[in-house]
Amino acid sequence: MLLMNTQQSRVVTMQTLKNSELRYRRLFEAAQDGILILNAESGMIEDVNPFLIKMLGYSYEEFVEKKLWEVGAFRDIDASQAAFEALQESQYIRYENLPLKTKDGRLIQVEFVSNVYLVGGEKVIQCNIRDITEHKQIIFALQENEKKYYDLVNQSSDGVFIIESSGKILTVNNAMCKELGFSEADFLSLSIWDIFPEQYLEQYRKKLTKILEGNSLETTIEYAVRGKDGKTHYVEVLSAPHYNGKDITGFQGIARDITARKRAEARSKQQLERLTALSTIDRVIAANFDLELSLSEILTHVIIELGVDAADILILNSNSQILEFGVERGFRTKAIQRAQVRMGEGYAGRAAWERQLVRIKNLSAEPNKPEIYWADDDFVCYYGVPLTTKGQVKGVLEVFQRSMLEPDVDWFDFLYALGRQAAIAIENVTLFDSLQRSNSEITLAYDATIEGWSRALDLRDKETEGHTQRVTQITVKLAHGFGLRQEELVQVRWGSLLHDIGKMGIPDGILHKPGPLTDEEWVAMRQHPTFAYEMLAPIRYLRLALEIPYCHHEKWDGSGYPQGLKADQIPLAARIFAVVDVWDALSSDRPYRAAWPEGKVREHIRTSSGTHFDPQVVDVFMQYLYLLTGHW
Ligand code: C2E
Ligand code: SIN
Ligand code: SIN
Ligand code: FE
Ligand code: FE
Repeated sequence: MLLMNTQQSRVVTMQTLKNSELRYRRLFEAAQDGILILNAESGMIEDVNPFLIKMLGYSYEEFVEKKLWEVGAFRDIDASQAAFEALQESQYIRYENLPLKTKDGRLIQVEFVSNVYLVGGEKVIQCNIRDITEHKQIIFALQENEKKYYDLVNQSSDGVFIIESSGKILTVNNAMCKELGFSEADFLSLSIWDIFPEQYLEQYRKKLTKILEGNSLETTIEYAVRGKDGKTHYVEVLSAPHYNGKDITGFQGIARDITARKRAEARSKQQLERLTALSTIDRVIAANFDLELSLSEILTHVIIELGVDAADILILNSNSQILEFGVERGFRTKAIQRAQVRMGEGYAGRAAWERQLVRIKNLSAEPNKPEIYWADDDFVCYYGVPLTTKGQVKGVLEVFQRSMLEPDVDWFDFLYALGRQAAIAIENVTLFDSLQRSNSEITLAYDATIEGWSRALDLRDKETEGHTQRVTQITVKLAHGFGLRQEELVQVRWGSLLHDIGKMGIPDGILHKPGPLTDEEWVAMRQHPTFAYEMLAPIRYLRLALEIPYCHHEKWDGSGYPQGLKADQIPLAARIFAVVDVWDALSSDRPYRAAWPEGKVREHIRTSSGTHFDPQVVDVFMQYLYLLTGHW
């Protein structure tokens, strides 16, 4: 080991100092910051580096041996003096945003940092000056941009959100708040796991994990969420991982409220079930002269489809004018089976006598004592439906619920439809002649349900609102012109009302797509007639009506779908309907294009005669266009 003597060590120290001074000098010369050295005592500028000279445009000579405020750059003399005085007091000063003037008169923003330190016993002030003009402009632009995006996001009618990986909600816009009823503050204190319904947690956790890992193939996903009011809302979410710099820190996305559409879909399904029910009942009535069996079938559907606790049917004995027990479901005691109600007496008697629905919303608030035969059942609401056919009362259908009930229009429509069938079933048997069965009565029961159903279908697709009603009316008129009989016209009407039904099976993303379909999407879209077939074929009363939903995209030259039928292989009703459907489709705005002018529509129909359309149908349609449509 080598020990240095004092002499040697002094030499080394000198050398080190020299080295460090040199190094410092190089730094000073090369620095990409402006540097200015002041003499702390005199306030004179001692040195200035090339970068500052370039930044401010003054020459070395214009700086050196001057006081700060004698250089034009530090135009605010008072401030410069004050800064200098402040530096006498403290070791360090920093101005984040100091305006300086360059020699050629430009104003620039600088960050100004001063340090006081001792060099060989002499107090020196070093000022570092950094030009932040551009930086400031970028920040300003960013803030502007941010505000623009903020406004954009908040004006959006879709919900916009950012969520941490943990599920904590970081950002939501107004639409999101409005949709679910939470305030922004509510949201920010919530995690999405608080607003997903219990039963979906597992499923959603998997989906979100996939998105976080960047592995999700689904572009939009439907979620159920609980709103502030506790009700379930359905949202369709387009989400993507949220990046913070380079790491995924959560999700961001756009949420669209699809609750109304979900309800419409649920309503469509319900209507389908109800229609199927009517058909089943009808089959039972037709096949059986056993009244009890027919009426029991009806009660089963009353209980299930209308969702009530109990129901019975009383049959009018036309000799005694007494309503006698027929069938029952859901009562707690057998007392109901001894029921005998005189016309005009009690709720059932009143319904039969007045031929009007008797509705009691709250039985406990009624002054009259309940009928003895259900006094032991704690019912809350009551509905008595008179069963009439051909103007004659056949009995009463009674419906009971042990809690409050708020039925909608569809519910009543179906209640009446079931009532009509019960009346027919009773009449059937009492006449011992199934041929007496009134076709028109049955038809009425169906028609109301099918109309309700097609209204529900239209709801899914706001753009085609009114389309179904219009094409139905025009098609029936045109079919009449082609000599179809009354019974056939009923089927044409139902077929037209339901022509859209197969679109229930087409995803929204395709149905509402604002532009042309891809090949793949066309494959899905072309399936809608087949979907319709599958849905309607089991319903006996719609077998003929099926022609339109199934065959309305066949073309005269055989190039249509789904079967590629040609000319009069295509059912006439479908050939007629196709012209009307395309005429109305082209005359209307669609999500994928705006309406065509009338002339262009007429031209298209004419030129498609013999290729897409039956030429005879086109001839008649064009000839009577005004009568049929109100348009020339
Ligand atoms: P839709 O909109 O009710 O149209 C019914 C039929 O009208 C079409 O049957 C077609 O024959 C005729 N049609 C409607 N718009 C036009 C048009 O702009 N040009 C011509 N030449 N004909 C038109 P198609 O083609 O079998 O389509 C069946 C359904 O598929 C359409 O019912 C619509 O829901 C959907 N669709 C058709 N094209 C597109 C599209 O480009 N984008 C989207 N999103 N959906 C489409
Ligand atoms: C429609 O009625 O909206 C379209 C007809 C169809 O293609 O089903
Ligand atoms: C469309 O663009 O709507 C379909 C065109 C066609 O009928 O082939
Ligand atoms: Fe169609
Ligand atoms: Fe249509």
